[in-house]
Amino acid sequence: MDQVSFQQKIADAIANPKNMGAMEAADAEGSVGSPNCGDMVRMWVKFREENGRKVIDRASFQTFGCETAIAVASLATEMIRGKTVAEALQLSGEDLSRDLGPLPPMKIHCGQLVEGALRSALAPGAHVTVLKAAPATTLLDSFGSNAKATKPVKLRFLD
Ligand code: FES
Repeated sequence: MDQVSFQQKIADAIANPKNMGAMEAADAEGSVGSPNCGDMVRMWVKFREENGRKVIDRASFQTFGCETAIAVASLATEMIRGKTVAEALQLSGEDLSRDLGPLPPMKIHCGQLVEGALRSALAPGAHVTVLKAAPATTLLDSFGSNAKATKPVKLRFLD
């Protein structure tokens, strides 16, 4: 693998990550943690109707993860726009990170973490944490005193 090329693609992706931050009025939200590295990703999704189908209008994310996780999450939130839930659920971590090229073995779990967050958000009955305070500006804030969730945040760790 061309590591220089991979590192450049990561640098390009995180120089201007797309859709980073909590989404107000999201329809669904999901969070996962990685037992490999202790990082986590949260993803929000908003749907719209299009030709009688429910499709993903937009998605956003926050993460404690590394640069690869940020880059993959940024790509993923763009890639799933306009897809139905069923179509989005067919995407693997490998699919979501395809524009970066094959991930180095030690970074494969970063893409899987993003896939897990997406699956969590698209799972039937995925709830949205309703913030009573101003939206948290960081993922850490959202677990701290800024968050007054009406339901406890359920964090699932990947197998
Ligand atoms: Fe933890 Fe990449 S090393 S998400």
